[in-house]
Amino acid sequence: MKGIILAGGAGTRLHPLTIPVSKQLLPVYDKPMIYYPLSTLILADIREVLLITTPNDQPLFQALLGDGSQWGMHYTYAVQEAPRGLAEAFIIGRDFLEGGAAAMVLGDNIFYGRGLGRILREAATLQSGARIFGYPVRDPQRYGIIELDSNGAPLQILEKPSEPRSNLAVPGLYFYDHTVVDIAAGLKPSERGELEITDINNVYLQRGALEVEVLGRGFAWLDAGTPEALLQSSNFVHTIEERQGFKISCVEEVAWRRGFIDNSQFIHLGEKGEGKPYFDYLRRIAAEELSHANYKQY
Ligand code: DAU
Repeated sequence: MKGIILAGGAGTRLHPLTIPVSKQLLPVYDKPMIYYPLSTLILADIREVLLITTPNDQPLFQALLGDGSQWGMHYTYAVQEAPRGLAEAFIIGRDFLEGGAAAMVLGDNIFYGRGLGRILREAATLQSGARIFGYPVRDPQRYGIIELDSNGAPLQILEKPSEPRSNLAVPGLYFYDHTVVDIAAGLKPSERGELEITDINNVYLQRGALEVEVLGRGFAWLDAGTPEALLQSSNFVHTIEERQGFKISCVEEVAWRRGFIDNSQFIHLGEKGEGKPYFDYLRRIAAEELSHANYKQY
């Protein structure tokens, strides 16, 4: 399965922070926001990724991420000329997907929790239909909201309902079969003028082909789209990292642990950045986990 990161949008809720630079390049504690959704796709074992950005920001993303080969991946870049909605990603991504299935993650969505990798890899084996997630939130008016029946089967999904019938938000992480491109191409803009991801989900729902997996209490899902949420996300990452000494969504580490890069490539990445705290971390975990004697051989 191939992956798409949608990292366009105007980021207006973060102005003036996002006047000169894309939201998804802003820091979430110790790394750029885009590292988090990138790590989510790596955890799903997805190596081929389409990065959709605004036209202005594309060179900045390219300067940060390159072609992906340093992390055992392959990146393709595309632009979205204007924020015409999340579902447009599949129209932009038609050639990239080559008739195959797709996982899409929003560039400002952060996922964390034990067992997440297994859940993602399972979702990425999807052959037909769609798999989305549900996550309980206190402010359901802000999200796509899903209502489930007593067996956990989806009944309806509404985009930002003023009177939500459940507190289960649909996070910005979607797994679709190859038909998603044609579904997206057939959509009409909503009242707010966007091609809605919720409309794609409702097509699968009507087909009886939508699976919903609820991510419960053990998981963190944060979307860093407002000043409050950005600070909250940084604080969350900082708290866990300081307490445990492990980084969250360190792309180099995730790529290494998933076998996208081998030990010597990983060590090389750490040594290239010697003296910089982020890269010192790579060297530290390599030394700890490969035992000092083995480390020296690489
Ligand atoms: O975060 C999850 C929510 O994302 C879902 O629950 C909703 O169903 C879904 O519509 C979306 O809601 P948001 O209000 O968060 O969407 P927003 O317009 O903020 O866009 C989400 C991200 O996608 C944001 O980082 C900007 C980017 N984006 C957005 C649009 C509309 C694009 O790159 N292109 C776009 O056209």
